[in-house]
Amino acid sequence: MLYIGVDLGTSSVKLLLMDEKGDIKNIVTREYPISFPKPGWSEQNPEDWFEGLMEGLKALTEGADKSTVKGISFSGQMHGMVILDEEDKVIRPAILWNDGRTQAECDYLNYDIGREKISAYTGNMALTGFTAPKLLWVKKHEPDNFMKIKKVMLPKDYIAYRLSGVHSTDVSDASGMLLLDVKEKCWSKEMLDIIGLKEEQMAKVYESYEVTGNIRADIAGELGLPVDCRIIAGGGDQAVAAVGTGTVGSGMCSVSLGTSGVVFVASKDYSEIEDNALHVFAHADGRYHFMGVMLSAAASNKWWMDEILKTKEYAREQQEINKLGKNTVYFLPYLMGERTPHNNPDARGTFIGMTMDTTRADMTQAVLEGVAFALRDSFEIIKNTGLNIERIRINGGGAKSPLWCKILANVLNVKVDKINSEEGPAFGAAILAAVGCGEYPSVVEASGKLIQVTETTEPEAETVILYDKKYSVFKDIYPALKPVYDQMAKEQSE
Ligand code: XUL
Repeated sequence: MLYIGVDLGTSSVKLLLMDEKGDIKNIVTREYPISFPKPGWSEQNPEDWFEGLMEGLKALTEGADKSTVKGISFSGQMHGMVILDEEDKVIRPAILWNDGRTQAECDYLNYDIGREKISAYTGNMALTGFTAPKLLWVKKHEPDNFMKIKKVMLPKDYIAYRLSGVHSTDVSDASGMLLLDVKEKCWSKEMLDIIGLKEEQMAKVYESYEVTGNIRADIAGELGLPVDCRIIAGGGDQAVAAVGTGTVGSGMCSVSLGTSGVVFVASKDYSEIEDNALHVFAHADGRYHFMGVMLSAAASNKWWMDEILKTKEYAREQQEINKLGKNTVYFLPYLMGERTPHNNPDARGTFIGMTMDTTRADMTQAVLEGVAFALRDSFEIIKNTGLNIERIRINGGGAKSPLWCKILANVLNVKVDKINSEEGPAFGAAILAAVGCGEYPSVVEASGKLIQVTETTEPEAETVILYDKKYSVFKDIYPALKPVYDQMAKEQSE
């Protein structure tokens, strides 16, 4: 039997073909563009996702015994707003998770309605990337578009809909809309009222491993897949990546060095977090999770390498770096503003501390360290909830760099485990497909069986101390610069 995991990312869709034993048979990727129509805005065309998906599915299954493909599931970039009209046509480009245009709407929700209420309805506070404030933005700035809305979808749910004809979503991804009552895993009537939506405008909510329907006959015909191939709900990319790294059940922690950077903790129970300092979402294993999210993790390094140094030689650039904990340059990785812990779309990327002897390697090192320090901000909040975390599982593109793993181990003072699959979200999605089709009894059991630790990077006591000192400096830079960022944002809006 074969299962397909689709990871609908921000820069590309990645598809993975897995057999029932968890062996990966093929992986393909199709890229698509992203547009930044104004500073801090970020949009994509859902049709590009679908084209990439269809091309990818054809390439993925070429040469395989297609008649044995039993199920397809998804991992998706979260929080994006896809709105459909009464003919199920996309009304406007999708506004993405890293778009920061909705500060006024978040202020309305957090201050006028009140953070306590929003948190009581959803388990979270309003943040600029979340879906509900985007809907309020459309209501205010594009009222004609708002009037046309028949269905509100998330990115992966839109492409699943194109395959199945079913409007579905799952608990983990829906948690990031600020429209779901996360504890009860159902749409919050109060939140829908506040936004001006009705429940029939929302998709039906499933657990991530549940079957939502079968593939449409015409799509099955076009792809050569069996008509009884099942579509399984899937989940938000972080929850599904956690499935793909075995961060399921209770108390386990993973860190993702993807476009965004995430510290993720699986929890068997729902619980509120003081000051809404972390996201409290449903997990793809049927339980819950907490996470802190920074917006530009591997994206910061990609920007530095591709746009500034104009090189693709990431490993060669990193070879020059040899003084861990001794860099005098700091980098604040707030290229798209920042979510955890600052919740400020107006924060900006900043280098500080250069001298005449600063080298190119120091700057590259500062970028890698800046991301690690920003992740430590989330990690500290998690530790303050009383959890003692001694090891993390690492995933995302940045995890391929042994140097970055070493920096992270020392900045967080934890053991960093790599696992047998580097394909986090796409692998997790294929696992969800296998569980949905009955191949495994539960997500926790499937992950436990299929995922093993292959390599561990240990922190080194001396370097940990050096980084501790550096982190205390890093922590002071943002508050010192906040008035400057505010001033810059004001100037830009004039
Ligand atoms: C999670 C988040 C990102 C995006 C894109 O809250 O915003 O992980 O899903 O990767």
